Amino acid sequence: MTMQPKTPARSAEFSIEFSNEKIILANQEQVLLHQALTQDIPLRHECGGKGLCSTCRVVIEQGLEYCPEETPAERKIKRQKSLPEYVRLGCQFKPQGPMKLRRLVRDEFDLSNAITSDLSTSAQSCNLAVMFSDIRNFTEFSEQHLAYDVTHMLNRYFSRMTEVVQAHNGYVDKLLGDGMMVLFGVNALEDCNPCNDAVNAANAMLRALDDLNEYFIECFDHRFKIGIGIDYGASLLGHFGHKDHLSFTALGPKVNRAARVEALCKTYQCDLLITEAVKKALTIEQVFESDYDVYLKGISETTKVWKISSPAKGRQVGKTYEQDTDMDIQVDNLPQVIGTPVIVVAARYSADELELYVAQAKLQANNQLSLYLPKGHTLQAGEYVTVHLDNRTGVDEFDADLRVFRTSYKGKVTQVHDAHSVDLTVRDFSLVHGISEVLAEKEPGYRFPTDGRPLQALPITPMTQMPVFAKQAHNNKVGVLVTRTVEQPHTTVMAFLSTEEDDIFIISFPSTFKVQTLQKDNRCAFAIDERATFTFENVIEWNYVLIDAEAYEVPTSHPYYDAIKAEFINKNPWEIGFFASPDVRLYHLKCLSTVCPAGNPNG
Ligand code: FES
Repeated sequence: MTMQPKTPARSAEFSIEFSNEKIILANQEQVLLHQALTQDIPLRHECGGKGLCSTCRVVIEQGLEYCPEETPAERKIKRQKSLPEYVRLGCQFKPQGPMKLRRLVRDEFDLSNAITSDLSTSAQSCNLAVMFSDIRNFTEFSEQHLAYDVTHMLNRYFSRMTEVVQAHNGYVDKLLGDGMMVLFGVNALEDCNPCNDAVNAANAMLRALDDLNEYFIECFDHRFKIGIGIDYGASLLGHFGHKDHLSFTALGPKVNRAARVEALCKTYQCDLLITEAVKKALTIEQVFESDYDVYLKGISETTKVWKISSPAKGRQVGKTYEQDTDMDIQVDNLPQVIGTPVIVVAARYSADELELYVAQAKLQANNQLSLYLPKGHTLQAGEYVTVHLDNRTGVDEFDADLRVFRTSYKGKVTQVHDAHSVDLTVRDFSLVHGISEVLAEKEPGYRFPTDGRPLQALPITPMTQMPVFAKQAHNNKVGVLVTRTVEQPHTTVMAFLSTEEDDIFIISFPSTFKVQTLQKDNRCAFAIDERATFTFENVIEWNYVLIDAEAYEVPTSHPYYDAIKAEFINKNPWEIGFFASPDVRLYHLKCLSTVCPAGNPNG
C-alpha cells in the first residue's frame, strides 16, 4: 500500500528519533541529511548528497506518512537497487513531521558492503555529456604567488564553479589540479538533455568567471581564462577501483575525447569547444563561430569540433569609471585606445627612493613610449620606469561616456635624448578594459619578479582628530596609487577621498596585490589626478598633487570609521557595493609631504 504524505501545520519543529542514537529537532525546510549532520548524527553521504550512492539510506520505522514524495533521483536509485518503500534517502527528502528512523550504513563495513554491492548494479552504460575545464596559464600564476593566495583563489574558483555546475544538473566527477571533470546525465531523467545542461553550464561558468575575475583582478592583479571542452555519447558509469578506494566515475572514449577537445581551446584561442555529437543533440540555440576538423591523439579519423561564442564578453561591472559596454573593437596597440600624446604619472626608484614625474607620453604603434619631462630628469639608459596609462581626460564632459582603458606599464629606458626626453620600451604591460585584459605584452624572457619580503599587518591609523575633507575633492574622481613593488614601482588607479592635510583614504581588500605590497612596505605615493584643465587652445594646465605617504588601516571600530566611510561613499557612490563585503578595509595614506612633481609646470 502506498502511503499518502501527510503535511502538518508549517513552521513547527518536531522531533525525529534515530533508533538507539538520539532525538533531534527537525523542520520541514531542510533535507534530513542536513538536519542530521548539523545535529551530530553521522549519516553517510558518499556522493555528497546528490542522490547517486544511496549510503544515506534510512529505514522509516514510524512516521512514513510524514515522508514527502520521492524526488526523481531517489525514485531512480531506489528502483535500481530495489529498495523498499520504507527505505528513504536522507539527502533527498524533507521530513514533514515526527518520525523514528534507523540508519542503515553505520560503519566502514556497512559502507564497504553498500558500495561493493552496488558495483554489479550501478556500473552501466549511459549517454553522458562529459565536460573538462582547465584554467589557462595556471602554473605561471602559481609560481608567482604565495601558496596561501593560490589555495584561496582555487578554493573560491572551485566552489563557485561547483555551484554553477550543480545548478545545471551536473555531477563534479573530480578536480584535477586546476581542472574539473563534470558529468551531465548521471541522474538521467526522462525529460533531461545532458548536452543542453552541459552547454548551459559552460556558458554559466564563463559568466561566473567574469564575476570572479573582478575579484581576482582586485586581489591578484590577475585575470583568469578557462577552456572548456564537451563530448557526448555512451560511457560506462559506476564505482571503479579497489574496494578500499572506489570512485564513482565515468570511463570510455568519450571521456578521453572530451579532455582532448578541452586542450584544443588553447590552440584555437577560445573558451568553449564542443564535438559534433554534442551539437547534434542540442535543442537550445547557440551561436557557433566556426568549426574545425581535427586529428585527436589515439583517434585515427578526424573529429569535428565547434567553437561556441563566449557569453562572457562585455559584462557591466557597475562602476562609473569602468562602465563596460560590448567590447566590439579589436585592440592592436596602446595608442589606438589610450590616445597620444597623453599626460602620465611615471615612477622609478632612485637610490631606493620613489621618484615621481608628471610627463607627456607619446605612444608608438609598437607600444614604445617617448616621454617629455618638462622639469627635467636624471634617467639613464637601462633604468626601469613605470608609467600609469589611461585614456581619461580629466574633463567631466569628455569622460562621462568614456570607455576607460588602463595599465601599469613597466618600461625600460632605451634612449636618453636630452634633459627632457627619453624613450621607453616594454618590459611588461596588461591593458585592462572594464575587467577584461584586452592587450598584453612582455619583453622576451621577462619574468614577474618574486617578492620574498614578509607580510606584516598594516599599522592602525595614528589619526586622533576627525579629518577635514578637501573641498575640491568631488572634482577629483580617481587617483593613482604607487606602491613599492620589487624591481620597479606598481601603479593602480583608485577611487579616493582626500583631506585638507592631503591625507588620502582608499578602500580595498587585504588579499589584493596592492595591499599586500603595502604590507611589505607601507611607504607609497598617491597622485591626485585632475588630469587636465583646458585653459585655452592647445594649452594644458597640469593639475596634479603628488603625495609621499605611509599607509595605515582604519579599523571598523575606529571612532571616525563611519564618518569617513559615509564621506567616501558620498564622493564615490559607485564604490558602495564594496562595503557589502565583510573583507573590505578602509586605508589611510598619511601624507608625509607633498612632492613637487618633477614634471609639473605648476610645481
Ligand atoms: S548521499 Fe548519496 S544518495 Fe544520499
